[in-house]
Amino acid sequence: MSFQHYSLIQAPMAGGISGARFVAEASRAGALGSVGAGYLSGAAILESARGVRDAGGDAFAINLFIPPSQTPDAEQVVKAKAALRSCYAAAGVAMPEQFAPLPSFDEQFEAVLEARPAVFSYTFGRLPRDRMDACRARGIALVGTATSVAEAQALAEDGVDAVVLQGEEAGGHRGSVDPLAPGMALDALLAACRQAVSLPLIAAGGLMDGADMARVMRAGAAAAQLGTAFLRCHEADTAEAEAGPGATGVTRAVSGRWARGLANAWMDERAPQDIAPYPEQHRLTSPLRKGAGADWKSLWAGTGAHRSREMPVAELVRTLEEEWKEQ
Ligand SMILES: Cc1cc2nc3c(=O)[nH]c(=O)nc-3n(C[C@H](O)[C@H](O)[C@H](O)COP(=O)(O)O)c2cc1C
Repeated sequence: MSFQHYSLIQAPMAGGISGARFVAEASRAGALGSVGAGYLSGAAILESARGVRDAGGDAFAINLFIPPSQTPDAEQVVKAKAALRSCYAAAGVAMPEQFAPLPSFDEQFEAVLEARPAVFSYTFGRLPRDRMDACRARGIALVGTATSVAEAQALAEDGVDAVVLQGEEAGGHRGSVDPLAPGMALDALLAACRQAVSLPLIAAGGLMDGADMARVMRAGAAAAQLGTAFLRCHEADTAEAEAGPGATGVTRAVSGRWARGLANAWMDERAPQDIAPYPEQHRLTSPLRKGAGADWKSLWAGTGAHRSREMPVAELVRTLEEEWKEQ
């Protein structure tokens, strides 16, 4: 799989946004569609891949979150749970005693191997050698995510096929290996990595139209990965779409990792101060986000949210390609 074929990648967006129809439409229109499978079980990943293929999507990516290697500090989790009580109460959602576990990464990864997408993309870490080999043996190309030059170099040493450079403008979680690492603006990150890494670089963060795509291509990117631009597409059944464009901010209170979204209770004085490490905080806040209104949902979106356009996925892909070629 060559990245020369793709100028545009529809970013993986976990949490039900990049569903099978959405991804198939992106792929059919000529982008590389991506299934955000970070919260899906193995069975759901296989069903999703089947769904994309049944809907006519040919080449596509499946994306997972690399789990942390350390177990969380139990005391920190107890404190985080206590701090969330007032948030549940303010939102009028009953706080459960038990919190559902996240799907196992081993099971998710086996499903990716079985589904055999053109690309396996991942974020929050590096993929162990044996797992990289397993993908290679099945002809699955590998794409890691970097938010700094050091991370991009580490992924290049691992032998990935391409690196997503995610600038701090990006919607959703910051894909850094260190969950607390600071972000870097996309243009600076791209300029620095262009000198340091000789792999195809995929630019992500705040890119909303063909002119933005042209800017990063001129600066050396092989392709552009857009997430927020797709949030108001008709096929995206999302709370972000309902909330409409708005100002964004960052928070660690939803999941324990930094993430950018439309400003709401998670980013003001109502947010808890004691936060468990990722992914424990994600588990603790999950019932609240599901049960509450927009104030307590995770409305992930990038700094370009106010420029997102409402149209079908395929039309947006065609529009972006046309705008880009006109530049
Ligand atoms: C709603 C939403 C969910 C996201 N989920 C994921 C994900 O599951 N995996 C991932 O690697 N990146 C995820 N991202 C980040 C995107 O891959 C990409 O870096 C980002 O969308 C680019 O910035 P933009 O949103 O300004 O286009 C998500 C982004 C958004 C907006």
